[in-house]
Amino acid sequence: MPVKDDLPATLRDNHHITEAMTDLYDHYYTSHAYEKRYPKPNQSTLHFLFEHGAREARDILDFGCGNGRYALPLLQATSARLTGFDISHAAIAELSRFLQNHPSANRMRLFEGDAGELNSQGDYDLIMLLFGVLSHVGDHTARLATLRQLRSLIRPEGRLILSVPSIFRRRPLELLEARLSRMTGRAQDTQKEPGNILFTRNIDKEAHQFFYHLYSVGGLRAELLEAGFRITALSPESLLPEWMITQSGWLGKLDEALLPLLPAALGYGIRAVAVPV
Ligand SMILES: C[S@@+](CC[C@H](N)C(=O)[O-])C[C@H]1O[C@@H](n2cnc3c(N)ncnc32)[C@H](O)[C@@H]1O
Repeated sequence: MPVKDDLPATLRDNHHITEAMTDLYDHYYTSHAYEKRYPKPNQSTLHFLFEHGAREARDILDFGCGNGRYALPLLQATSARLTGFDISHAAIAELSRFLQNHPSANRMRLFEGDAGELNSQGDYDLIMLLFGVLSHVGDHTARLATLRQLRSLIRPEGRLILSVPSIFRRRPLELLEARLSRMTGRAQDTQKEPGNILFTRNIDKEAHQFFYHLYSVGGLRAELLEAGFRITALSPESLLPEWMITQSGWLGKLDEALLPLLPAALGYGIRAVAVPV
């Protein structure tokens, strides 16, 4: 049975992806290259969070919180209890440093490494999965397992707010390369799924390979539905690349002003609110 032969290899591949993403992000945060590339939250995403319940939320989980680019402003602006989780030890270490002497540090708790640790640690009325976290998790099976875990952690009236990279805006060469390798039968394991790509970026002079699943709106909607979520709001995450709008205040403002003209699918990323069904 092809599935039986296939399954262990794909699971192994997903495990390797998580290991590689952990090493990569440990280096990204330790070198401060992430902070330099994305020095602030995307203001429009922050506004989106407030428009969709962040101010009223009592318990917020930031899954893949990184250095707290979004969690920290929410800690500041709300009275919610915050939980941050990331696979990267360096991300959580950096966020812990930001929390030292923070007047509201007692409202934030942090978990790192194994997402299973979040189970039986409470539930949430807002879960954030922001700026491509879901895309790094692995193939469809792995992403579905993550979404189903989040579904089990969300309250019946809760909301999931996520953003994922758009297939129409990102990495056309790598997408073509992945397509060619599927067509010629060279694609292995997780690379057999359309939308999955690998690309290399230098971080602080070291080459690192990123795994990404790129999404269409339809693909995101279907995946969320399979995990027990229904999309209730959609928007583009930005028109320009995230690094540009977070490094320049005026470009960030201009970008936010132009967003209502852009269909969600054509954003640099796709932002969505989803509720449990
Ligand atoms: C592009 S960063 C986004 C971080 C943060 N949400 C932000 O907007 O700045 C992607 C984050 O996802 C984390 N990540 C990657 N794979 C993950 C996984 N399987 N589970 C949880 N987090 C993961 C990385 O460590 C990294 O912090």
